[in-house]
Amino acid sequence: MTKPKALSQSYWELSAQQTYAAEIRKTLAERYVSPPLAYVHSFGCQQSVYDGERFKGLLAELGYGFTDEIRRADLILYNTCAVRENAEQRVFGNVGALKGLKKNKPGLIIALAGCMTEQQQVSEKLKMSYPYVDLVMGTNAFARLPELLYRVLIDGKRSIRRDPAGDLTLYEEVPVLHESRHKAFVPVMYGCDNFCSYCIVPYVRGRERSRLPDDVAREVEKLVSHGCREVTLLGQNVNSYGKGLQEPCDFADLLRRINAIPGDFRIRFMTSHPKDCTPRLLDAMADCEKVCRHLHLPVQSGSDRILQAMNRHYDLRHYEQLLAYARQRMPGLSVTSDIIVGFPGETREDFEQTLELVRRVRYSALFTFIYSKRSGTAAEKLPDPTPAAEKSKWFRELLEVQGAIGSELLQGYVGQTLRVLAEEEGRTPGTVSCRTDDNTIVEVAAPPERIGEFFKVRITEAMNWALRGEVTG
Ligand code: 5AD
Ligand code: SF4
Repeated sequence: MTKPKALSQSYWELSAQQTYAAEIRKTLAERYVSPPLAYVHSFGCQQSVYDGERFKGLLAELGYGFTDEIRRADLILYNTCAVRENAEQRVFGNVGALKGLKKNKPGLIIALAGCMTEQQQVSEKLKMSYPYVDLVMGTNAFARLPELLYRVLIDGKRSIRRDPAGDLTLYEEVPVLHESRHKAFVPVMYGCDNFCSYCIVPYVRGRERSRLPDDVAREVEKLVSHGCREVTLLGQNVNSYGKGLQEPCDFADLLRRINAIPGDFRIRFMTSHPKDCTPRLLDAMADCEKVCRHLHLPVQSGSDRILQAMNRHYDLRHYEQLLAYARQRMPGLSVTSDIIVGFPGETREDFEQTLELVRRVRYSALFTFIYSKRSGTAAEKLPDPTPAAEKSKWFRELLEVQGAIGSELLQGYVGQTLRVLAEEEGRTPGTVSCRTDDNTIVEVAAPPERIGEFFKVRITEAMNWALRGEVTG
C-alpha cells in the first residue's frame, strides 16, 4: 500500500486556529467572571486517553478550567471509542442523560469526539436524534477544535465534522494536559492499515502515519526534563512504525534512540502486532536497559483457522517462535495479550485451541473480549451461528483458566526484591500503588509524597490481582 504523505507541522503555526482561539478567549472572558469549566471523559484505549489529554490541553489554551463534577461543567466532552458495541451503548446512554442538564443550563456545550463519531451512521444518529449535542468531531478533526467551538460559542450553530480519511497532518507541539506528572503517553504513529476483519479502527482512524523520530525524541526529552519517569510509546501497531518516513527509521531504531535519552525513566510501548514483531525489535528491547521487560503481543485466537479468518497474517507457529526468542533474550519477560472469544464461525474446537495456547504461554495477564460485530468490517458479513450464551460460557472459562495462571505467577514473586515506580495512592489507606518493570502492581506502605519515585521493595505477599511489599531502599 502506498503511504500517504503525512506532513509534520507545528500546531500553533495554524494561523486560522490561532485566530479562532483568540476570539474564544476574548468571548469567554466577557461571558464568565471566573474561567468556565470543562468536564472531559475518555472511553477506550490508551490512544483515546491520550486524545482526551490533548483535548484538555487545547481547552486549557482556550481559557477553560476543569471539573470532575459533570453538573458544574459549562462544556462536557465525551471522547468516545468504537471498538465494541457496548462502549458505544454506554456513550449513547451517557449522552441521553445530558438532555435534562442542558434544559436547565442553556449555555452548556455538549461535545462528542473520537472514534465512534467517525462512523457515518453514528454521526447521522447524533444529528437527527440528539439535537442538544452541539459539537461532533472525529479523531482527525481534533486540530480544528478552536474553529468548531467558535461556531458553537460565537455563531450559535451546531458543528459536526467527520472525515476519517481527511486531515492526516502530524501536528507537533499541541498542548497536552497529562493526567500524571510521572507517566505519559507519547504517540509515535497514528492510524492503522491492517484491516483485521473484526476491527473498526482502520475505518475510523485512517491510514498509518509515523511521527518523525526527532519529534518523538524531543517530546520525550522535554517530558523527562519535567520529571516524567515513564513514557509509553503508542501506536495501533508500533511495529510498523517508520514506513513512509524519508530517513529510514523503524521501531527498533526508535527504541534505541529513546533509550539513549539521558535520565532515570523507563520506556513501555504498545501495541505490537505479531506479524511485524521481529527478532530485530526484540534484540533492541533486550539491549535497551530503560525498556521494560513487558511485551504486550495480542494473539487474538489460538486457532490458525480463526487467525486466518481474522486476517492477522501470522500463525501460531510464528507467534510462539517469537515468544520463545523474546523469552530467551529476556528471561523473566512478562507477556500479555488480547483475545477475542466467539469470532464468527469459531467452534468449540477452535476455542479449546485458544485455551491450550493460554496454558502453554502462561500470560501474566489477558485482555479478553467477546466478539462484537462492527458495521463496515469484513467479519460483519460472516455467518455467526454460535449463540451468545455459549460465547459467554467460553469467555468465563477463559477467565478462569487465565485467573489461575495469573495467581500462580504472582506467587512466584514472593521473596523477590524489585525496583518499582510509585504511581498513585493505593486502595488501602496509607499505601501507594507501585508498578514493577514488568507491569505488576505492588501495594506498599509509604507516604503519598513518594509518588513519582523509584524505589526497591521486597515482595511479602501475593493477592489475587496484585502484590504486597515493603520498601527496602
Ligand atoms: N470485537 C471484540 N474485540 C475487539 N477488538 C477489536 N475489535 C473487536 C471487536 N470487533 C479487541 C482486539 C484488540 C483490542 C484492542 O480490542 O482484541 O486487540
Ligand atoms: Fe484493529 Fe488489527 Fe489495526 Fe489492531 S492491528 S487496530 S486489531 S485492525
